[in-house]
Amino acid sequence: MRIIRTVAEMRTARPQAATLGLIPTMGALHAGHVSLFQAARDECDCVVASLFVNEAQFAAGEDFAHYPRDEERDRRIARDAGVDILFAPASDELYPDGFQTWVDVEELSKPLEGEHRPGHFRGVATICLKLFNIVRPERAYFGQKDAQQVAVLRRMVLDLNLELVLRVLPTVRDADGLALSSRNVFLAPQERARALALPRALQTGDPARARAVLADAGIETDYVDVLEDNGSRALVGAVRVGSTRLIDNVPLEGEPR
Ligand code: PAJ
Repeated sequence: MRIIRTVAEMRTARPQAATLGLIPTMGALHAGHVSLFQAARDECDCVVASLFVNEAQFAAGEDFAHYPRDEERDRRIARDAGVDILFAPASDELYPDGFQTWVDVEELSKPLEGEHRPGHFRGVATICLKLFNIVRPERAYFGQKDAQQVAVLRRMVLDLNLELVLRVLPTVRDADGLALSSRNVFLAPQERARALALPRALQTGDPARARAVLADAGIETDYVDVLEDNGSRALVGAVRVGSTRLIDNVPLEGEPR
């Protein structure tokens, strides 16, 4: 596996004739990320994963400084999953002095996560468009775990006429039902047990019942609501357990994407 730190090197490393798959990540890799690497490995000639903790998508007061970082471990996991190139640039490589151009997917970015994390999707859309332009993948892989992120990026691809296919893969969960997340490492054992109320609540498939399950469990809830995207609907929720914020969702109906 080749590790690339600069945009210039990434551009020259890109094989011309191959079908290239890109998996954008912020590292702290787990089996959810690995499922995306494996899908890309199955479907593409060349697999590029990016590793970049994108400060622009963290709202003020969020956990950017504390986001888990362990590049050596991430390198091992990516290599073992068959990633060909790990694109891991420094922050000033992607946001040099003078940077001032942003992508704003206006309406889809407003509710749910957007309401609780101002500027979040502007940061996500901007970094993803940059990565798409630098790596020029035919296919880009994302997790259903971040359902609104998928909706926002799908709209960006459509609105800006990007020539790539978004592939969306199901949420990978631990045996107890908790969706894998880089932030789960912050949960103390008791908090982890309480956090299981989130998947349990969403499994009801009904916003009011889900809110009741969370209230009974004494979980502080940012929102529980139905998100519609691309002809399918999901019950999405965000909660806080201690100082850790968790999101999850359960597809309700519609064609799997
Ligand atoms: P990150 O949280 O590292 O997630 C990278 C990708 O892995 C996303 O597409 C996310 O939906 C997917 N993923 C996370 N947990 C998953 C799980 N349990 N099952 C399946 N897929 C899962 O999402 C981001 O990074 C960033 O916003 C990014 C797109 C990289 C832009 O900075």
